[in-house]
Amino acid sequence: MGWVRHRRDHGGILFIDLVDRYGLVQIKFDPVERPELCQRARELKAEWVVAVTGVVQQRPEGMRNPNLSTGDIEVVASELRVLNKAKTPPFEIKDPVDASEELRLTYRYLDLRRPELQRNLLLRHRTYQVVRRYLDAQGFVEIETPSLIKSTPEGARDYLVPSRVHKGKFYALPQSPQTYKQLLMVAGFDRYFQIVRCFRDEDLRADRQPEFTQIDMEMSFVDAEDVRAVCEGLMAEVLKEICGYELVTPLPVLTYDEAMAKYGTDKPDLRFELPITEVSSLVAGSQFRVFAETVKSGGIVAGLCVPQATAFSRKRIDELTAAAQTLGAKGLVALKVTHEGWEGGAAKFFSGEEVAAVNRTMQANPGDMLLLVADRREVCLPVLGALRLRLGKELNLIVEGKVSLLWVTDFPLFEYSEEEKRLVAMHHPFTSPREEDIPLLRSAPQQVRARAYDLVFNGSEVAGGSIRIHDAELQREVFRALSISQEEAERKFGFLLEALQYGAPPHGGIAFGFDRLVMLLAGKETIRDVIAFPKTTSALSLMDGAPTEISPEQLRELGLRLCE
Ligand code: AMO
Repeated sequence: MGWVRHRRDHGGILFIDLVDRYGLVQIKFDPVERPELCQRARELKAEWVVAVTGVVQQRPEGMRNPNLSTGDIEVVASELRVLNKAKTPPFEIKDPVDASEELRLTYRYLDLRRPELQRNLLLRHRTYQVVRRYLDAQGFVEIETPSLIKSTPEGARDYLVPSRVHKGKFYALPQSPQTYKQLLMVAGFDRYFQIVRCFRDEDLRADRQPEFTQIDMEMSFVDAEDVRAVCEGLMAEVLKEICGYELVTPLPVLTYDEAMAKYGTDKPDLRFELPITEVSSLVAGSQFRVFAETVKSGGIVAGLCVPQATAFSRKRIDELTAAAQTLGAKGLVALKVTHEGWEGGAAKFFSGEEVAAVNRTMQANPGDMLLLVADRREVCLPVLGALRLRLGKELNLIVEGKVSLLWVTDFPLFEYSEEEKRLVAMHHPFTSPREEDIPLLRSAPQQVRARAYDLVFNGSEVAGGSIRIHDAELQREVFRALSISQEEAERKFGFLLEALQYGAPPHGGIAFGFDRLVMLLAGKETIRDVIAFPKTTSALSLMDGAPTEISPEQLRELGLRLCE
């Protein structure tokens, strides 16, 4: 039984490809032996559901298809039953698909019939099983936490659910089970995990969805190294079972400062090198005013040395400059390295010693091209990081099949939010500062480093976590640094502050973005390809039309009125 995918008429003999999730088989209808059956089979159309009875036999010599696992055989039909007819599908179900994503999302159940999406969901299924098996073997207990919780927005906006019984009150859908898993540590479940749906009302991108899945974990009596070791074991198991890849552990660790300085991002893709090099001190005294003045006013000069790039056309350099400007840089200085020195508009402003010193530091050889940016550190490094990624792709520097997994640690605990005009937690407000930085919480909060760690997989943040604050007083202190008043802290997080005072063990944890993980394992570009029923980038479900208006009765029952 299955779906009719194709029908082929070969001068009387009729073939159909019958398909289900296990594969495809060719069915043969013989017009001489069974003319009446053959006639009925001629009526079959794409995606009709049928049951066929017949005899499996070798295909004749010359008719075999080595590209198909069932290509040596066919079923000679003796019976045919139509189980259900189908309307003509709005697009042909084949790989590669030839239809807009909008149409495919509207008919997602048809798109999901494609072998590629079936493979992705099976890979997702197998990944769940490996994760559960591994964590169970490590003594983790799977516990469900509620989906209707108290709204405590931190980071993204909450999705809210009105309460009918308590009019005017709202539940929130969890952005993550963060506080609950910490309470489970207080309760004594020293190794918890959950594969859990999270909800965030934030601006969406290719690797974000309003609802997504995490592998959420928490452990008691641990430090960051213990959490990381469990995650490395988990990743090794997943990569081995799903991709046949042997991961070498322990994984490399970069601090946040190192990652920013060398790769211009806190999630570097190390499948290729092309590092950023700072040359501020070497050009501070140069005749090139832009560089000299930037350094004088506290900025930096840094750049990339692109190997064997002297063939870059003027047009290409203009494109890179435009890209740098779109990213926020004032400009991009391109210098070709030759045996004689540098070539390029700015070359004449640099002395022989300056050229030699920069070449040495940037390990530049004749034939290479230097791309330099001068700006404030917070502008310069991210711009170069983005150019690095772009060049890595354009110049095919990413080695096919290579896996880059590393930890980034020691994030700043806080960052300044221009929008809110206050410090906000870079990870979340329950993250512990490093012990030696605690005295800086009042005097220099922006210098405080967090006991936080991110796992970066091929340039994507695939997991993030931290050691938590388990002391109520320190938690209050961090709320203070975040300009959360005592009254507000009590109102929002009083239950947690209370719990921390009943014997909370030291604890820490992490959460993997499960969709992102599966996307990377499947080698896909968007998490929509590994989610059965994803939403669009504007959070719509095209298939059923959610979100929709609700009836006046429903609103009344909930005690709600819409404003104009
Ligand atoms: P964080 O917010 O870093 O940490 O989330 C953990 C991981 O979840 C994934 N992720 C997403 N995936 C798809 N769509 C989204 N909108 C989305 N947002 C996040 C990312 C990210 O690394 N409670 C903490 C974890 C902890 O501290 O233990 C948390 O949620 O891959």
